Amino acid sequence: MAEVTETVLADGLKRIQADILAAFDELLPVPADPRAQLFEAMRYAAMGGGKRVRPLLLAAVAEMYGVDREAAVRAGVAIESVHVYSLIHDDLPCMDNDDLRHGKPTVHKQWDEATAVLAGDSLHCFAFEVLADPVMSGDPFVRAELIQVLATAAGSHGMAGGQMMDIVAESSTFDLQTVTRLQQLKTGALLAASVEMGAVLGKVPHEGRKHLRAYARDIGLAFQIADDLLDHEGDEEAAGKALRKDADKGKETFVSLLGADRAREQARMLVDQAIGHLAQHGKEADLLRELARFIVERSH
Ligand code: IPE
Ligand code: IPE
Ligand code: MG
Ligand code: MG
Ligand code: MG
Repeated sequence: MAEVTETVLADGLKRIQADILAAFDELLPVPADPRAQLFEAMRYAAMGGGKRVRPLLLAAVAEMYGVDREAAVRAGVAIESVHVYSLIHDDLPCMDNDDLRHGKPTVHKQWDEATAVLAGDSLHCFAFEVLADPVMSGDPFVRAELIQVLATAAGSHGMAGGQMMDIVAESSTFDLQTVTRLQQLKTGALLAASVEMGAVLGKVPHEGRKHLRAYARDIGLAFQIADDLLDHEGDEEAAGKALRKDADKGKETFVSLLGADRAREQARMLVDQAIGHLAQHGKEADLLRELARFIVERSH
């Protein structure tokens, strides 16, 4: 049984990675004009690795509700574009000042800061262009809701707000409750939006989304605890990015507040809880279950 579900995850990851790569390739051709460098930087960041966890979450939920694959992949490109933009800006000297991402130079190292800022800006806008395009869905209410969910998750009530708290965390001492809030915004919001967008495409009524939201909330927190554990004790080569940065910066994380062992326990408990929220589903939710486990057991 375990082997079967592991295949479900391995196949799911492989398939979404290929689909997202092909979609970016098709949707972001490099123009033969002076903007070429901008598109090259966007492609470099968007097509240069990444697990594609957010598109996989979105596609897994969409598939449970019978959404066609092409729509799920398009919406997946949108959420991944916001994620990639957030990483380009996160790596900038004014934020984490990182030189390596996915085992390659970060965008500002490969080109320069201006190119990195513009590539991030452009991917951010591109996400909403994709969602607003009638090709996305023939139903304008679905398109509007996708846009609303992603916009809320990306901005000051979501990822960007969490990034601000993360910067403030370097010069203040946050308690567990505040760190939890920070993580929920910084990382949890986009993961939750991925699940929600799958449900929007599936036209799942709001009452029918409660258990999916509960699942998403738990894995969102578990995901960032796993990222903090990786930062604390992971292998730089496998991660493809510089580690041991949180402690250097004096950043409060679950690991610094609870210690690695209790943080890991907490992440595993959250994953069990997340899987518990899927009890009403049969094997059609196996991918979501397996993905939840992968989120805490991953090495990169
Ligand atoms: C890394 O996210 C940044 C966080 C939000 C913790 P991922 O671990 O999903 O990054 P990639 O895209 O797979 O590299
Ligand atoms: C970044 O968090 C989260 C974003 C919203 C981009 P981190 O700064 O911990 O991510 P890594 O460790 O650089 O991937
Ligand atoms: Mg950061
Ligand atoms: Mg960072
Ligand atoms: Mg990190």
